[in-house]
Formats: sequence, structure tokens, C-alpha cells
Amino acid sequence: MNNLAPKIHLENLIKIYGHKPRIALKLFREGKSRDDILELTNQVVSIANISLKINPGELFVVMGLSGSGKSTLVRCINRLIKPTSGHIYIDGEDIAHVNEPRMRELRLKKISMVFQQFGLFPHKTVVENVEYGLKVQGIDKVKRRHKAIEALEKVGLEQWTDYFPSSLSGGMQQRVGLARALATDAEILLMDEPFSALDPLIRREMQEELLHLQKELHKTIIFISHDIYEAFKIGDRIAVMKEGKIVQIGTPKMIMTQPANDYIRAFLQDIYNARDIIK
Ligand SMILES: Nc1ncnc2c1ncn2[C@@H]1O[C@H](COP(=O)(O)OP(=O)(O)O)[C@@H](O)[C@H]1O
Ligand SMILES: [Mg+2]
Repeated sequence: MNNLAPKIHLENLIKIYGHKPRIALKLFREGKSRDDILELTNQVVSIANISLKINPGELFVVMGLSGSGKSTLVRCINRLIKPTSGHIYIDGEDIAHVNEPRMRELRLKKISMVFQQFGLFPHKTVVENVEYGLKVQGIDKVKRRHKAIEALEKVGLEQWTDYFPSSLSGGMQQRVGLARALATDAEILLMDEPFSALDPLIRREMQEELLHLQKELHKTIIFISHDIYEAFKIGDRIAVMKEGKIVQIGTPKMIMTQPANDYIRAFLQDIYNARDIIK
């Protein structure tokens, strides 16, 4: 592919939810299925041994149906969730095993997250929301305000600095969420279905805007989606997940022309069906 060291490298990542993950892990390693483990131990195998590498500057989409483990995967990457087993290398540092103070530092400076439900503080103004992460880092008022306004300019909201989130539309609120992630200069953006709550037209606009921004920013982005159109439109590469595993990884073109199995073909059928409706 290329010779760059990966920005993010997951190795044999496993996450099991429940109070007895060790017993479940043992069964998993013995080859028991997800369903069997659930029945035997009441533990949920949510990430079932995932390994993948993401290149610097890549817009990497993780696609899958609800419950396939997408949110768990990104939450492991910023350690909102501690994985049960495996490694998460970010620029070579295994963050599955770093301590909480180091993790906080990484979350403030290196990894930013954009949430589906925007996650804005309702009683803070737009600009205060955007500069919040910088304030927590102890950056002085003048500098953080400058950075926040710069980020708001990037997403076209510089006129709205002193408004409260409630006076903004959903699309604009998510732009604020994006500006907040950009303000910290984090190299990695984790976006968990950031546009899923938006109306279709606004959603399309936001996808285009993200692609436009990415041309200039070259961040490493993991973008979660359950929508194959969205995945194909914005992804440099796509990983399709099912029941905590990766079914196929590839460029949109590769997935389209060489689907790995019937599961992928069923997703693609949606696209073909849409084409048929138009006739
Ligand atoms: N806190 C939790 N405790 C137990 N099971 C969970 C928890 N969070 C998620 N799960 C289960 O893990 C699986 C993956 O969930 P999730 O990562 O949210 O999937 P997705 O984001 O693809 O919808 C699902 O079966 C879900 O029910
Ligand atoms: Mg989810």
C-alpha cells in the first residue's frame, strides 16, 4: 500500500462486555461463537479480534448494521472503554496499556471525538463550546478564543460565536461539534455517526463539507456509518463490520467490484435496487 508507518494500528483487539470477561475470553479463544458465549456466560463479545492499520491522512469508514460493534471500536480507540485484550498503537504507542493521566492528555491533544448527538453544552455559547477543550488544557483566554474563532471560520460559523446552541439548526450544531474537534489541532478525529441525526439534504451537504475540509486538513479520520452511500462517498477505505468482526476492508471500488461474500453483496444490493427504481 504505502511505506508510511500506520497512524493507528489495532492488533487482535477484543472487547467483551459483562462482569466475567476472562471466562468469556477463554471460551472465545477456544473457538466458541458469540452466541454460545452469550448463552453460557451472559457476556457480550462486542469486538471479536480485530486487526487493522490506518494510514496518516486517511479517511477510514467503519460501516456496519446497528449492534455490529462500531461504537465500541471507536470508544476503545480513545479509551472511553478499556479493551479486554489486544493492542491499540497510535503513532507506535500502545494506548491500550497507558495510564489514565496519559490517556487524558492524548484525548485533549491528539484524538478528538465528534458525537452523533453533537454533545454541546446548552448553557455555553457557540464559541465557549468550541474553546472548551483548550480551556481544559489551560491555554490562555486570548489564545483559545483565537483558535476557536479560527475553527468556526473553517466550518462557516464565524457569525454565530455568541449564540447558544439551541438557536442553531441541527446541521449548524454539528458544525460546532466539528469546530470543537478541529480547535484542539488533534491529528485524529473519531466521528461516530456524526451526520445520522441530520435531514438527508443537510447530511449530504455535511459530507461534502467534510471532504472539502479534509483536502486542506489531512487529518486521520475514523468515520462510523451504517449507510453504504455515505461510506462509499467519503471513505478512502471502508471496513465492513458484522458481529464484532471485520468482513471486508478495501476501497469503495474494491468492495463494489470484489465483494468478499454474500453479506457484502446484500449491502450492495441496496445500491442496485435504488438504480432500478429510477427506470
Ligand atoms: N455497555 C454495554 N454493556 C453490554 N453490552 C453492550 C454495551 N454497549 C454495547 N453493548 C453490545 O455490544 C454490541 C455492539 O454495540 P455497539 O458497539 O454499540 O454497536 P454499533 O455502534 O455498531 O451499533 C451490541 O451487541 C451491544 O448490545
Ligand atoms: Mg453505535
